[in-house]
Amino acid sequence: MRISVIGCGYLGAVHAAAMASQGHDVIGIDVDPVRLGALREGRVPFHEPGLEQLLSEGMSAGRLRFSTQIADAATAQVHFVAVNTPQRLGGDEADLGYVEAALRSLAPHLARGALVVGKSTVPVGTARRLAPLLDGRAELVWNPEFLREGHAIDDTLRPDRLVYGVGDDPDAAERAQTLLDAVYAPQLAAGVPRIVADRETAELVKVSANAFLALKISFINAVADVCAATGADVNLLADAIGHDARIGRRFLGAGLGFGGGCLPKDIRAFGARAAELGEEAIGSLLREADRINLGRRHRAVELLRTALSSEPGAAASADQGGDLRGRRIAVLGLAFKPDSDDIRDSPALSVATELALLGAEVVAHDPHAVPKVRAARPELTCVDTAADAVVGADAVLVLTEWREYRELDPAALAATTPARLVLDARNCLDPAAWRAAGWDYRGLGRHEQALGALVA
Ligand code: NAI
Repeated sequence: MRISVIGCGYLGAVHAAAMASQGHDVIGIDVDPVRLGALREGRVPFHEPGLEQLLSEGMSAGRLRFSTQIADAATAQVHFVAVNTPQRLGGDEADLGYVEAALRSLAPHLARGALVVGKSTVPVGTARRLAPLLDGRAELVWNPEFLREGHAIDDTLRPDRLVYGVGDDPDAAERAQTLLDAVYAPQLAAGVPRIVADRETAELVKVSANAFLALKISFINAVADVCAATGADVNLLADAIGHDARIGRRFLGAGLGFGGGCLPKDIRAFGARAAELGEEAIGSLLREADRINLGRRHRAVELLRTALSSEPGAAASADQGGDLRGRRIAVLGLAFKPDSDDIRDSPALSVATELALLGAEVVAHDPHAVPKVRAARPELTCVDTAADAVVGADAVLVLTEWREYRELDPAALAATTPARLVLDARNCLDPAAWRAAGWDYRGLGRHEQALGALVA
């Protein structure tokens, strides 16, 4: 199949490389010349494990190329639209300007019988509303994407399911389904479930899935606060309830909450769209999830203040309510999640920034996000290793659960700092190991008051 992918960001670049890897002839189109320039040279302008190799394999096999010119996509049989749909400035709604611009620019170049497939996450009703932009030259269907950054290639090649949202005309819907089946032949042959629905259902499947995940995270974080107030352990609790197959353990990781370029803006846009339709319930549910989620960041800062003021020899700070001014804080993790360098709406970056604003001397580390942080927040000091960040720190704050932080040697680190206070805002470290090495270990929603001072 000849395929174009319009928009080569976290989603589009992966989709283009993955489709080329299964034998399709793919052209990636993007309006950002810097991003495109990097991709043309076989460099991935963001961190995604395995993508660089897939990209170079596709390019050297002659099956994958990139262009800034939409006209170069003219011969494609299937066009995937993977442009950004950010939160609108000053509102909760999705900004669909990029999708509209992409469809408008594509329309004059569409070959007879071509299919246009939306992959971007959009509010329900978008495909029906925007289909006329194609001037009747092609059918517009929606095929939402569920990949996770950090696992994007595997998720694209081996998705949990494929969802096609097709239009009302039965013949056009059948043609669309046939083309999509040809694109995804390897997945279908491997038994990946395929759900063929109307476009509205397909659009809603994506936002509902994200909304459910957000609710699950905020649920466990709300429970974590009760654990913290009573000395209960939210990790054990999550293990126990997670054994119930109806609940499941995944997405019950209590801590600093969700962020990134999708979940936060998607739940806000879902609420806004539902309100436009006169349906308020989902919006109020999601607004509460959003509020709980954002509150985690503040709670982490407050917990750090409290912990610092209760440290031996911190009497002066205690008088000032845990003053952070001049305190050296090692921040481990800046990306919104591990295995990604994405800092869009990153809880970690937001906490690091707040600490710096409160006068702390933040020394931060992240295995991959530092270049993006240096560009976005030049005021933050970033160092090359986690150990460098910890030297002489008054407190260590784990804000992204990178594997390398789980594998840190607490005894070796203890020798480099007299303070030995660690706040594990992702509940990813082994408390026993850190305590045995002499650290005052605190988790978020997990024995926050430190053992011995718990509510009876
Ligand atoms: P992104 O911002 O990384 O990439 C979007 C790309 O589209 C940018 O490179 C931009 O220059 C390009 N673009 C914008 N207008 C264009 C146009 N008219 N023609 C050609 N290129 C254009 O965004 P990301 O993260 O890839 O997300 C894209 C969409 O996919 C969003 O709707 C997002 O919600 C959805 N999505 C993202 C996932 C993720 O993990 N990042 C997962 C599932 C869905």
